[in-house]
Amino acid sequence: DGDVVRGDRFSGGPARGFLSSLAADERIFAADLEIDRAHVVMLAEKGIIDDEVAGEILTALNVVEVEGHETLPEGEDVHAAIETAVVGRVGHDGGKMHTARSRNDEVATCIRYRLREDVLSLLETTTALRSALLDAAESHAETVMPGYTHLQPAQPTTVGHFLASYEQAVARDAARLLDAYGRINQCPLGAAAFAGTPFDVNRERVAELLGFDGVLDNSMDAVSTRDFLVETVAAAANLATTVSGVSEDLVIYSNRGFVELSDDYASTSSIMPQKKNPDTLELARAVAGDAHSGLSGLLTTLKGLPRAYNRDLQRATPHAWDAIDAVTDATEVAAGAVATATWNDDALADAAGEGFSTATGVADLLAMCGVPFRTAHEVVATAGEADYDALDSAAEEVLGAPLSEFVAPEEVESALDAATSVAMRDSVGGPASESLADSLADAEATLVDDE
Ligand code: ARG
Repeated sequence: DGDVVRGDRFSGGPARGFLSSLAADERIFAADLEIDRAHVVMLAEKGIIDDEVAGEILTALNVVEVEGHETLPEGEDVHAAIETAVVGRVGHDGGKMHTARSRNDEVATCIRYRLREDVLSLLETTTALRSALLDAAESHAETVMPGYTHLQPAQPTTVGHFLASYEQAVARDAARLLDAYGRINQCPLGAAAFAGTPFDVNRERVAELLGFDGVLDNSMDAVSTRDFLVETVAAAANLATTVSGVSEDLVIYSNRGFVELSDDYASTSSIMPQKKNPDTLELARAVAGDAHSGLSGLLTTLKGLPRAYNRDLQRATPHAWDAIDAVTDATEVAAGAVATATWNDDALADAAGEGFSTATGVADLLAMCGVPFRTAHEVVATAGEADYDALDSAAEEVLGAPLSEFVAPEEVESALDAATSVAMRDSVGGPASESLADSLADAEATLVDDE
């Protein structure tokens, strides 16, 4: 019966619960069945097991699949429990399923198999966030807003330029995830415990059946490494940091009345009837904590592990699942919040020129007319306010001549306007409408390519 499988090693000692990963392994239940199937098919193709036994095992695996993870017999993990269930149906021949492999290569393959799916889901949320950011950027390409450094008014820009800045960051986060995907998608199976197997297995065939791009070569590396979890979670943590930034900005902007979240993405207060709070974005901001702690949990668990397999690895995996789930949710919510937010053009335009945010534009204008930039900076700093007369007396003081000696008064008046100030900044990647239109077209093309 099924108890012949490791029954004496896992029979109810006090550490039983501590040892078992069966509950957490629900996440790789479906993956394990696929990996069992591919392995059994290869074993039969290579004549390592009889076709008839292979058929019985495959039938048993189908039954195990239908009955589900929750009906598995007790076991140290999902791999042992599925094997016990198969042996329970097929009899001793069911034990042939585990020929030429180990749980060490099996679990590493399961994690990679499942992670592919999770990375693809996470990538889909990055696509949603990027298109929400680009759509809103296109609709608000000309909506002038204050830009900040140190959270102080700095220079006017546009909502489109601001949103597109985050899209570029998310695009790089997605590229890092995609890059990691290539290294995730290599198959460890056939490495066995770590030292390979004397059976004439076909590792490439198993990899092909499971949709992997290839096999991990060194059998000791194949079972030992979890670097693919580290790089995936690191990319997810980077994305979570980006999401926290856009969330934080929108929390601040909703505080200032620049943007209003849709009711779907806001919360109320149980006591203060007037409240509309940006809770979803606060939670999205907080997910960076989950992601960064997952990365740190992983690296700390892996640090200093000797070759080859060590059971510590069992506790590494959930750090990755938890982080990836949290970041996927946060990215999806941020995409929805951005897509449904309403920007208050009037409040933004009023605020855009506050705090003499056009000062740099005036200094630039003077510099374009031949005044050394440092001196132009001094003139504008001396004036200290967005006022022609103040600038004129500052020119007298610093340059010893009226402003009109250097630049036409209407040009100065115009540079003091936030919208003109934006229009002047037409360098590559700048906020002026032609520059932004080029950037948005490039970003859109890259997004279509990535989709
Ligand atoms: N459940 C284990 C894990 O997640 C795999 C089992 C390998 N166990 C062993 N004793 N070699 O890593």
